[in-house]
Amino acid sequence: MKNIDSIGHVRGESIYLDDIPLIQGTLFGAAYGSPIAHGFIRALDISEAERHPGVVRILTFRDIRGENQIGGIIPDEPLFAEQHVHFCGMPIAFAVAVSEKAAREAVGKIKAEIEPCPVVTDPREAQANGELIIPPRTFRLGDVDQAWSLCTHIVEGRADTNGQEHLYIETQGAYAIPLENGVIRVHSSTQAPTAVQRAVSKVTGLPMHALDIAVNRLGGGFGGKEDQANVWAALCALACIQVGRPVKYSLPRTDDMVMTGKRHPYSSDFKIGLDKDLKILAYEVTFYQNAGAAADLSPAVLERTLFHCTNSYFIPHVRATAYSCRTHLPPNTAFRGFGGPQGMFVIEAAIAKTAEVLGVDAAVIQKRNLLRTGDEFPYGQPAESEAHACWQKAEDLYDVVALRGEVEGFNKSNRLFKKGLSFMPVCFGISFTKTLMNQARALVHVYTDGSVSVVTGAVEMGQGVNTKMLQVAATVFSIDPGLVKVQSTSTYKIANTSPSAASATADLNGKAVQMACTGILRRLKEVAALELGVTGGMIELKEGVVWVDGAASAMDWKKLVLAAFVRRVSLSEHAHYATPGIHFDPSKGKGHPFAYHVYGTAIVVVTLDCLRGRYTIDAVKVVHDFGVSMNTLIDRGQIEGGIVQGAGWMTMEEVLYDASGRLRSNTLSTYKVPDIYSAPSAISIEALHTERDNLAIFRSKAVGEPPLMYGIGVYFALRQAIRAFNPSADLSFSAPLTPEKALMGLYDKKHVTA
Ligand code: MOS
Repeated sequence: MKNIDSIGHVRGESIYLDDIPLIQGTLFGAAYGSPIAHGFIRALDISEAERHPGVVRILTFRDIRGENQIGGIIPDEPLFAEQHVHFCGMPIAFAVAVSEKAAREAVGKIKAEIEPCPVVTDPREAQANGELIIPPRTFRLGDVDQAWSLCTHIVEGRADTNGQEHLYIETQGAYAIPLENGVIRVHSSTQAPTAVQRAVSKVTGLPMHALDIAVNRLGGGFGGKEDQANVWAALCALACIQVGRPVKYSLPRTDDMVMTGKRHPYSSDFKIGLDKDLKILAYEVTFYQNAGAAADLSPAVLERTLFHCTNSYFIPHVRATAYSCRTHLPPNTAFRGFGGPQGMFVIEAAIAKTAEVLGVDAAVIQKRNLLRTGDEFPYGQPAESEAHACWQKAEDLYDVVALRGEVEGFNKSNRLFKKGLSFMPVCFGISFTKTLMNQARALVHVYTDGSVSVVTGAVEMGQGVNTKMLQVAATVFSIDPGLVKVQSTSTYKIANTSPSAASATADLNGKAVQMACTGILRRLKEVAALELGVTGGMIELKEGVVWVDGAASAMDWKKLVLAAFVRRVSLSEHAHYATPGIHFDPSKGKGHPFAYHVYGTAIVVVTLDCLRGRYTIDAVKVVHDFGVSMNTLIDRGQIEGGIVQGAGWMTMEEVLYDASGRLRSNTLSTYKVPDIYSAPSAISIEALHTERDNLAIFRSKAVGEPPLMYGIGVYFALRQAIRAFNPSADLSFSAPLTPEKALMGLYDKKHVTA
């Protein structure tokens, strides 16, 4: 089935925040963000801005009716700076005017006198200063200190990954509208309607039932709107209450890039030990997470780094420690993979370095240490592993022997172009690691004409979740999908939702839809039995028709629905789903946090231009563990997009803050994302089809985040290519591996002859 949104998208009919028809009297907001990264406001002059033509109001912290606080996990993030500013772009004031232009001009007339303080942008420096968001976290398995003595090879090193701009096509924004009876409706571009509702409630002092947070769809989220949509919604709602008129703020791209946090940069130290057969016995790793100026989701992201620090490998002795370091960058936040990719990069770096030191192929070490079913993750959960199955299928299907032969042959016959080949296995746990978040609700109505309405807490952001929800309802009822409409979500329709995140949205909300539809179906079957005078026979609904004991009856879906209505049987159901069997004790770092894991293996081939440092990604060949895909078109789209986004993070996307904490890469001319020319020339995706009973909806494993990590393979393939040209290069593990860095590596300590 095609994505139900595709026609609307192509015709430009899909409604994003900025497409909502304006209500008469709507005002426009613009935020005034701190011009410096760290300091104390000594004076704030808004008088000239207030006098600017068209300006209705300039709001500051003094206008807050509730608490000046929007921190989700830890209350450490004021909506408006009072005295202390701790990142560049931190909101100090909010101008509200009759036009966007007037609001932005007013912002230009606000004057703040800020006494500067020292700025820290490096997480190791922050850690050394004791600036931690939460106490350090450690995951342990076995006894790493004892294990070193058993190791034949021990390799140590450092690995760094940079941040990543979310670059959703639709920027952040909100539109707050006063309704009657003290109710405010806020249209928000958020992955987390309930998080917005809580934040707005806190700042305005209004109870949650007075706030309807409505989300039609997002033009991309990628984690950037999991927590950071709260700010704009709170600003608009506050202004809306203060002036009694609708207020909208849809961020210009540069404001969005400057004011919002990104993927967390990490700096890490590793030590890895192997026996003579290249079995990894011990792994010790320390992660320094650059959290930015406030907690945001950093503690949860940090935890997922620990969960995924051994990627697809079984290592019997592990000690992984992670520091969430407070710096003066905008609070960094969720980004597809949620800390997992940062953890996986380090173990892959450790294996790559070991392979280089020992002069063996990294793939030999990788393959020898893949997880097997029953192996224990450092957090105590046993693996149900598809790691070998994916790897082996990739080797066979893509004929790795021939591929290697091609790469070696090419490298022998070319002096100024070199190819590299890497394997990237991925293992990603599915569930929110905070157990309580693994719950969802659905509301299903069947109307008397037989049409069906479905609403859940799922936010459609391009990932195709609405199509999957529709498929669930149509499958349970066994009716034409054209009879089902999936409604957009809002906190008045569905309450207390978890964010659409953690790759778990289709699973959680899909299960709730399945339960709601099953409840209605049960009643409909009872009605059918009465109508058809069947006692004890088996009643089924198949393709819109009632079947009795394996034979089609004359009663179709529409007649059945109407008969139920006439008999005063409920045609609506609200269902609640909570993932069973999961638990995790953060104080021990042990439990069974994930419903299941997604596995996969990618083989990456690159070609490097050794004169210029430029490169192309020739191919990414994947065997991916789909379980049983519900929608192969959508799932393949997720994998292709994930690979390109992961490769972008690893190769060209360079978030650059200067020493004063100012973002230099604040436009698309200075921040480069993959375009069609830098995307892989070919992506092959083959399924590892498994039918194991798992907790995924219709056994279709989650697909949102795991494929991003295939992109990490691009980094290591490029490293191979650099070393093929210059074996003596002393390369650091530092992503992104931009063409500039590749060029430096190509000529590092190299004796160049004419
Ligand atoms: Mo996602 S990074 O779990 O919003």
